[in-house]
Amino acid sequence: MTTVLTYGTFDLFHIGHVRLLQRASALGERLYVGVSSDAFNALKGKNSIIPYEQRAAIVAAIKEVDGVFPEENWTQKKSDIERLKADILVMGSDWEGRFDDLNTICNVHYLPRTEDISTTDIKKTFEKINRQQIVSLENQLRNARDTLLRNNLL
Ligand code: CTP
Repeated sequence: MTTVLTYGTFDLFHIGHVRLLQRASALGERLYVGVSSDAFNALKGKNSIIPYEQRAAIVAAIKEVDGVFPEENWTQKKSDIERLKADILVMGSDWEGRFDDLNTICNVHYLPRTEDISTTDIKKTFEKINRQQIVSLENQLRNARDTLLRNNLL
């Protein structure tokens, strides 16, 4: 029975997350996921929109996932691997080489990311929409003011 372990924030859950979990699961029979806690995200300079309890529940609902636990610091991976008897640690290719030292206690795999999607991109899209709405409201207000001025009502 091969046990696979992976980690992530999984904020604003998207197709890249699903594919990563599916590919990680295909490497073994059991998949555990460490989901970054809100405090750990803050430490990493990430501000997750969805709170930990919901992100963890979403990841746990994926049928390939057998268990979820909080990731609270940079150093817990070694003890997690030992506790869960993980054979494989899966990380996204954005972490290539960063966890090679753990190859002494398990096999570290770096999986390529799904292209053209990330939580950061989704957040940027929302910010852009908000900016467009602000510009539109400013235009409406300017038009209303001009109308009032034209009619000597202001
Ligand atoms: N992932 C992936 N393909 C993507 C996005 C993420 O394979 N397009 C993987 C990451 O490599 C990681 C896991 O999904 O192994 C969780 O990634 P996470 O950092 O939570 O998601 P991102 O969308 O990369 O978030 P951010 O933009 O905040 O870094």
